[in-house]
Amino acid sequence: MRIILSGFGAVGQSLVGLLSSRAEDLYTEYALKPRIVGVFDSGGGAADPAGLDPAAITAAKRDAGTVSAGLPGGVEMIRSVDADVLVEATASNYADAEPGISHITTAMGRGMHVVSVNKGPLALAFPSLTEIAAYNNVALRFSGTVGGGTPILDYAKNSLRGERITSFAGILNGTTNYILSSMASGLSAGDALADARKRGYVEADESLDLDGIDAAAKLVILANWVMGMKVTLPDVGREGIRGVTGDDVAGAASRGRAVKLVASCKDGLKVGPEEVPLEDPLCVNGTLNAISFTSEHSGTQTIIGRGAGGTETASSILRDLLDVRQVMS
Ligand code: HSE
Repeated sequence: MRIILSGFGAVGQSLVGLLSSRAEDLYTEYALKPRIVGVFDSGGGAADPAGLDPAAITAAKRDAGTVSAGLPGGVEMIRSVDADVLVEATASNYADAEPGISHITTAMGRGMHVVSVNKGPLALAFPSLTEIAAYNNVALRFSGTVGGGTPILDYAKNSLRGERITSFAGILNGTTNYILSSMASGLSAGDALADARKRGYVEADESLDLDGIDAAAKLVILANWVMGMKVTLPDVGREGIRGVTGDDVAGAASRGRAVKLVASCKDGLKVGPEEVPLEDPLCVNGTLNAISFTSEHSGTQTIIGRGAGGTETASSILRDLLDVRQVMS
């Protein structure tokens, strides 16, 4: 399987490490023999039809700050390097979804399957991207966009197949959950945010976390994939956690509840602070994510796990590559 890797941050680097450390069993167990034939970051690209050396590209990134070997990256590389799959791992952009959306559409236009952990294109253009994928007869997979390594999308789509999911509600942003959990332990909103920043949990653009944009993007992806809705980011009613005070959190605690940033699909799509009973399985703490699916016949089930992290998200890309491998055979 020839792969172009778009973006070489924490997730891209973890993926290269994972594919190389698991090379033997991926081949013997799954007949998967991945080759990174092209990689690029904002500094440029490197390519080799025989497969790039994982150690060499990782060292180049560490030492020079870029994987560039002087080749153009971006759409130009996707147009000129032959591959089976594009793994899109550049940063999410919710203004116009670029450059990820051009990477994805160019790859699909060339007949490549796409695995995206970039949420921007899916949040802004899910319905049209799935149409373009169908038109070009290629797979579009995006497990890692919701829940990181926790297989939330797969659970809803595959484990609950045949069921009719009537509604769901989730804690889909680990950063705000960490901040609200710290506030529940007595920290002020300012101290909780400063602590989350110090630990590296807060996005470079903190508005994505604090104003609920990241959670709304994940809600849109779930609504399209799980509920068959044709919606995009502006369809979500959204409020972040900036208005949540210590008094709100203490008041909720006195009622046996915790304030959580909940993303829900029930009579519309909504992200906002809500009081969740402490005994509700959804009421997870720290950076954990959780989502409860309510189905017509099987009741409500909750899936809990880490929603971010380079290695965890790389493992979701591997799951998607194995799916693509099946489509290809
Ligand atoms: N900022 C995100 C979060 C990262 O806190 O969940 C994972 O999408």
